[in-house]
Amino acid sequence: MSENELPDTKAGRVDWVIRAETNEEMRRRYDLWAQDYDSDVGSYDDYLVPWEATKVAEIVLSKEALILDAGAGTGLVGQTLKEAGFQRLIAVDYSEGMLDIARKKQVYEDVHQCDLSRPTQFETGSIDCVITCGTTTQMPCASLREFARIVRPKGKIIFAVVPDAWVDFGYADILSELEAQGKLSVKSRGEPFQMLPTTEPDFYCEIWVIDVR
Ligand SMILES: C[S@@+](CC[C@H](N)C(=O)[O-])C[C@H]1O[C@@H](n2cnc3c(N)ncnc32)[C@H](O)[C@@H]1O
Repeated sequence: MSENELPDTKAGRVDWVIRAETNEEMRRRYDLWAQDYDSDVGSYDDYLVPWEATKVAEIVLSKEALILDAGAGTGLVGQTLKEAGFQRLIAVDYSEGMLDIARKKQVYEDVHQCDLSRPTQFETGSIDCVITCGTTTQMPCASLREFARIVRPKGKIIFAVVPDAWVDFGYADILSELEAQGKLSVKSRGEPFQMLPTTEPDFYCEIWVIDVR
């Protein structure tokens, strides 16, 4: 199969993006997957994460909160948040292909292309909450430091955590470091649930709420 060909099956596409060897290769793969992403995973019976994360957001945030959806992709999380009544949503992702789909949904007040392996344009303490879903095996773990910087004191990070990847990809170490510095503390860890019950029944995820101090 050439690098420019999408795998034929949904499970093949999920696996193909995870197996990208570089950040740039993954971005290109998401650009290619973008048109089919929502028909592959955008329904409640096949990708539960946006709905589970939104339920948690409804408990810990006010509907006026300024929420940054990090690794927003095609905007599935923005859609579920908007349906739940959240009004102030910003999307960031490095795949223009994914963001083109997100823009058309008109649920975000701003949509920015940016690579979360680098510092973002957001000012320190300017965001009430970062929410991030489907990204533990993909975004660089240094993004957690950036989230701790841009979220205001007493704000939240709502992170859909894949527990093994959280450790293997280095997030656990960065969280420990930021906890020791008094910058972050874990407020709650939700029960594990199957994030892709039909496509990948062995993938489990937990929704964590992290307080920014
Ligand atoms: C599995 S998708 C999840 C999209 C969306 N949050 C959802 O739940 O449907 C992962 C997203 O993370 C984005 N991503 C991965 N690495 C990134 C990086 N370094 N900077 C910005 N976005 C990144 C990809 O482009 C992709 O849109």
